[in-house]
Amino acid sequence: MILLASNENPRGMPEGARQAGAAALQGASNYPDGNGTALKAALSRKLGVDAGWLTLGSGSSEILTLAAQATVQPGHSVVFSQYGFVVYAQAAAQMLARATVVPATDYGHDLAAMRAAMDDGTRLVFVANPNNPTGSFIAGPALLGFLESVPAHVTVLLDEAYTEYLSPAQRYDSIGWVRSFPNLVVARTFSKAYGLAGLRVGYGVAQPELTARLNARRPRFNVGTPALAAAAAALADDAFVNDSREMNAAGRVQLRNGLAELGLTSEPSAGNFVMVCVGDAQGISARLLKAGIAVSTLDNYGLPQWLRITVGLPQQNERVLEALRTALDAAG
Ligand SMILES: Cc1ncc(COP(=O)(O)O)c(C=O)c1O
Repeated sequence: MILLASNENPRGMPEGARQAGAAALQGASNYPDGNGTALKAALSRKLGVDAGWLTLGSGSSEILTLAAQATVQPGHSVVFSQYGFVVYAQAAAQMLARATVVPATDYGHDLAAMRAAMDDGTRLVFVANPNNPTGSFIAGPALLGFLESVPAHVTVLLDEAYTEYLSPAQRYDSIGWVRSFPNLVVARTFSKAYGLAGLRVGYGVAQPELTARLNARRPRFNVGTPALAAAAAALADDAFVNDSREMNAAGRVQLRNGLAELGLTSEPSAGNFVMVCVGDAQGISARLLKAGIAVSTLDNYGLPQWLRITVGLPQQNERVLEALRTALDAAG
């Protein structure tokens, strides 16, 4: 089966991470280091922030839910964009909060409307950059302007699950922004470019006071020993991430060009996936599955005509395009 449904890294994980994770299994009859000391030290060096600015999560999904737990009470409002990642709505619901879903523009965040949707009862806003599943991207200056406009009683969770896939020209200094904004949490993950989705490691970066509130709600042993070890090793492998970014950028062009040749509309994407309008997405997806290729339908995002295809290895992209052609022909 070719797995192009969950935006994982088709190259797998760095070899050093695999070895470190396997070696760490030896010690896994004991509880993990609940403080994640070694991984935090590696992140501190990489990001230039003290360990007291870091929260480790069982994937970055946990950072998103911890942010809601730390900031939101029942009846408060949580703001996020239409076509926002599913966990935002879940995190709001868990806290019995109001979900304030702001209509998207061009399948991306309408930051002005999101700002306007905030009221006295708003405590949290989620912004994904790039956004999943649409692939939309907000340039750094616009994002900074938004942060400056957000009132102090609202925490901003900037979800950067796909940040490693940004081109050098797209990058911006969100960790630097954390120093300026006490109400900002930047969430990142080892699940995507680092290839460790099955190990469940993510992290949040925020000023110490907010970090303490996140950590206070974190289950003590939320990241296991092999996951901690593999993540620290992966973080050291810049070449792996750079090669993954370059392969992804080329694969994205390959996919979008191929989709256009099939007469299909796809959205520009800054991530490692492409959203494409196919009409009967359920039917096409079922045909692809029969051909041994898993992609994602997007009914739960209110996008029933669209599929999200993870950018694969070059030959996988070729296969999915071929299988799509066959499926579209069969569907008439
Ligand atoms: C936008 C976004 N944020 C966060 C995540 C969370 O991933 P994880 O919990 O594996 O770190 C995902 C995963 O698909 C995502 O697409």
